[in-house]
Amino acid sequence: MNDQHNAAGPRGWLDGDVALITGGGSGIGRAVAERFVAEGARVAILGRDLAKLEAVVAASPAPERMLAIAGDVREPESMHAAVAAVVERFGRLDTLVPNAGVWDWNRSVTRLDGPSLKSAFEEVLSINVIGYALAVEAAWRELVRNRGQIVMTLSNASFHTAGGGAPYTASKFACRGLVKQLAYELAPKVRVNGVAVGGMDTDLRGPASLGLDDRSIHDSFAKSEVTGDNPYLPLHDASTDPHDFTGAYVLLASTANSSNITGAIIPADGGIAVRGFRTAAGGDDL
Ligand SMILES: NC(=O)c1ccc[n+]([C@@H]2O[C@H](COP(=O)([O-])OP(=O)(O)OC[C@H]3O[C@@H](n4cnc5c(N)ncnc54)[C@H](O)[C@@H]3O)[C@@H](O)[C@H]2O)c1
Repeated sequence: MNDQHNAAGPRGWLDGDVALITGGGSGIGRAVAERFVAEGARVAILGRDLAKLEAVVAASPAPERMLAIAGDVREPESMHAAVAAVVERFGRLDTLVPNAGVWDWNRSVTRLDGPSLKSAFEEVLSINVIGYALAVEAAWRELVRNRGQIVMTLSNASFHTAGGGAPYTASKFACRGLVKQLAYELAPKVRVNGVAVGGMDTDLRGPASLGLDDRSIHDSFAKSEVTGDNPYLPLHDASTDPHDFTGAYVLLASTANSSNITGAIIPADGGIAVRGFRTAAGGDDL
């Protein structure tokens, strides 16, 4: 039985665990970091901008249980240094969350010339896919030691069209391959799962190679007319606050609560897969 209480009072689902989250300085990575801390974990967040990460740590109710690490997920040495820093500070690593990513702003192949398409693909794949693989390569030895787990951020674009252009959609489909292949390679000692999150109001940027790195998805949400109910989603749940997407990460990071789950992907997207051919929600009149 999973006893969530002891003599000292209620325990979090991640009490005593140590996690490393790439791209943890903003968006869903930051929300997951904050939720993991609330669940009792110690959490390191990695990103390219140390000052931004340190501000996240300073804003935490438990800054002593957080660590900011500067690094670029495209650099193998950077990821090895990050894992070493986590172990030096917290003594162990139980959970890796590969999450840092960029979006291609739905750029269709019909709107890009060959060289632009090539550079966009190279940049998006190097961060969204190779960056995930390099994080795993740097962390698997520690994860094996602790029988830990990996929880990858995937996307509605890991399953469906129109969540991005070809570079982004291909990158997020590729991450499904990473979940499955790495779950196979690392079993039985490390579980590997994913959370396929839907649209969220974050600081998600575009590829620098297309000049879109200064543009944030937050600006699109600020201009969006979809407020309250979203008729396109079966659950009509238009919450775009990343904090509302963190529950599945906690479940998959918790050994006590998901020790028998690996190679799985939980869609946290308002039910896009059950839209069907008619209206988005058959039970609207219930
Ligand atoms: N926002 C959405 O609607 C949405 C939907 C589905 C999936 N996702 C996925 O969620 C993940 C997180 O994105 P987000 O929406 O929270 O955006 P975000 O920009 O707020 O967070 C991503 C973080 O990754 C960092 N990052 C980018 N490139 C990096 C690199 N090379 N090295 C280190 N850090 C780097 C960024 O600085 C940023 O802090 C991404 O994988 C994204 O594809 C987002």
